[in-house]
Order: sequence, then C-alpha cells, then structure tokens
Amino acid sequence: MAGLYIHIPFCKSKCAYCDFFSVATLQRKGEFLKAIETEMELQKNYLEKENLKTIYFGGGTPSILSIKEIEQILSQIKKYQTIEKDAEITLEANPDDLSVEYLLQLRKSGINRLSIGIQSFIDRDLKLMQRRHDSKKAFDVINEAQACGFDNISTDLIYGLNGLTLKEWKYNLDTLLSLPIKHLSAYHLTIEPNTLFNKWYKQNIIKLPTEIESVNQFEMLIKKTKKKNFIQYEISNFALDGFFSKHNSNYWRNEKYLGIGPSAHSYNLTSRQWNISSLPNYLDAISQGKVPYEKENLTLNDRYNDYIITTLRTMWGININKVENDFGKLYFDFLTKEIDVFVKNKLLKKVNDSFVLSEKGKFLSDRIISTLLYVKK
Ligand SMILES: C[S@@+](CC[C@H](N)C(=O)[O-])C[C@H]1O[C@@H](n2cnc3c(N)ncnc32)[C@H](O)[C@@H]1O
Ligand code: SF4
Repeated sequence: MAGLYIHIPFCKSKCAYCDFFSVATLQRKGEFLKAIETEMELQKNYLEKENLKTIYFGGGTPSILSIKEIEQILSQIKKYQTIEKDAEITLEANPDDLSVEYLLQLRKSGINRLSIGIQSFIDRDLKLMQRRHDSKKAFDVINEAQACGFDNISTDLIYGLNGLTLKEWKYNLDTLLSLPIKHLSAYHLTIEPNTLFNKWYKQNIIKLPTEIESVNQFEMLIKKTKKKNFIQYEISNFALDGFFSKHNSNYWRNEKYLGIGPSAHSYNLTSRQWNISSLPNYLDAISQGKVPYEKENLTLNDRYNDYIITTLRTMWGININKVENDFGKLYFDFLTKEIDVFVKNKLLKKVNDSFVLSEKGKFLSDRIISTLLYVKK
C-alpha cells in the first residue's frame, strides 16, 4: 500500500511566516494542471503497482482549485494508479476559499478529509501572519464543513507567536476544541529564511517567546487536547481515536509514496527524490518529457537515521528488535548504549519492545533525536 502527494504550488498571497514552495500568482495554473498529468504518466511505475491507500493534496493552497479541476486530477490519478476503496483523500484548504457551495461540491467530488489552516482565532495574530481570513471565518468554516458532510476535519494552529500570551493560547485551544474537529496539527512558529517574519525578526519588529513561555504553551496544548480525548500520536499531531492521519502515518511507517508537482518528495524504500522547487523549471522539464528531480540512494546509515527521526516523534517510538533485525549489531549496540542514559534520566520509557518519549522527553525531542543519530566517523 502506498501514498500519493500532489503539490499545488499556488497561493493567493504569501503568509508572513511560510516558506513552503508556492507562487502568489495563478498565471500558469492551466499549464501546471497539464504538467502534473504528464508527470503522473511518467511516474506511473514508481510505486510498482501498489494500491493507493492515501492521496494528499498539499501546497501551497489546493483550495484555490475549482471543483472541476479537483475532479479532473482525481480522474487522472485513476488512469495511472489503483485507489483503494476506503482510501483517505485529504485536501489542504484555506478558510477564505471555503464557501458552503464549494464545501458541498468538494465532499461530492470524493475528498473525504479536510485539513483547514486555521492558525489562530485572534484577529491581531491573523493580521500579523497576513492570513486572508478573520477569526469569525475560522470559527464558522469548521461548523460549515461538518454540515456539508465532512466528518474527518483536521486543523492547523500555530503557537509561539510574537506576543501570544498563555491566556490567549488557552483561548485558541478552548475555541478549537469546542468545534467538531477530529484532528489537530499544532506547530510552534519557526522563523524560516526568505519570509517576512525573518526580516521582521532581524529588525526586532517581532520576537520569539522565551523557552519557558514556549514550554508552557506546549504543556497547555498537551493538557487541553488530552482532556478532550485527543491522542498525541506524534509530537505536533493530535487526533481522536480512529482519526490519525493515514497519509502521515505512511511516512512514519516507512511505506512508499510518490510526490507529484514542484518540490514534491518521493520515497520507495531504497531511495528518496525531490522535484525541483521552481515552477518555470518544472514546467520546462515536464514539457520535454523529463521529471526534474534530485535523488539520493539510501545507505544503511541513512535508513537507520531516518527511522530514528521519524519514529521517535511518534507514540510508537523506536522498536529495538526492528533496529537489531533491519540495521544490525553496530546500530543496535550504539542505540542501546545511548538510550540507557535517557531512560535513567526519565526522558525515554520502555513500552514492550519499544522506547518512547516520556512526558518530560517530549519537550526535548530534538536534542534526544540528534544524540541517537549515528554519525559515521
Ligand atoms: C502547507 S502549509 C498550509 C496549507 C494551507 N495553504 C494553509 O495556509 O492553510 C501547512 C501548515 O504548516 C504550518 N506552518 C507553515 N509555516 C510554518 C512556520 N514557519 N512555523 C510554524 N508552522 C508553520 C501552518 O500551520 C500551515 O497550516
Ligand atoms: S501558509 Fe498556506 S496560504 Fe500561506 S503562504 Fe503557506 S501555503 Fe500559502
């Protein structure tokens, strides 16, 4: 079973924090839609006939597409791949694109999971982030999506923003958790290069919270979601039972995936590759019948490190038997020695044959992961 990711590289305008690959003009949308069909054909054997368990329209802003365009892409996919009957088909959407009419038709088109970029319910912060919706739209759109037939709604929030108080973060969480959502991805703000936030940060116009403020917000996130029966199945991802993102779980479970569109990544167990992050260059190459990607063949060491990076952040953790069987004695010995120290310090705990982050460990996950990576001397 495999996953398919389609990158829609258009946004109506760029948000101040975001460096995901997208352009703020729809000028070449028509050409792009033709190009992804060609790429699907060129890449039709990449997944070696494995059925698609998940399809994910990400971006950029997939909700800038019309229903007709989405249906067209879905029928193109069916031409080249077999979609499982109960496949999870997700579309990332911006609140300002979601009218009731659009939502109704979207549900009918076969999209069965919506991932809505709410980010905040505070108008001051939505303005600062240069989002195009206000807090009222953020609130209403979730109820409307449910009324239009979406029972699998995911939402994104950002915390750690300039000036966000703990009280305000609590308000964001309480508001969101009072709405009919099944999944929440909550990300601490990172200041990315080539964003407006980066420029403002350097000019001291915006600040990041102190470490204590960040930890308090993360703690609040864990506490509030737990109270509403959300399971923290990955550091930044929380869901009700039965609603974990199948698409993301694919990544964490080491399954194959194919990425279509500029900047999309693909993985087939032995190598990973990523398409060029330039729309003109992508369109040029595809028009000449070539997929413009760079590729990395994975060594045993790469695969061990990937396993640590992806699984330690999840509730399933690192399975020590798997490490021994798949990667051998060198990695097993290295890992068990390093893990021992974290277990003693109560940052990792043993659950059956796996090591998972303790509550305390969740706050230090990046540091723990970097210690467990094997660097060849
Ligand atoms: C591909 S983006 C957004 C999808 C959609 N276009 C939208 O804006 O709602 C996925 C999510 O990543 C998060 N994100 C993007 N840049 C971030 C940053 N610099 N710091 C924290 N979260 C970020 C946002 O929550 C965003 O919704
Ligand atoms: S957050 Fe979404 S809408 Fe904003 S620039 Fe990034 S991809 Fe585009």
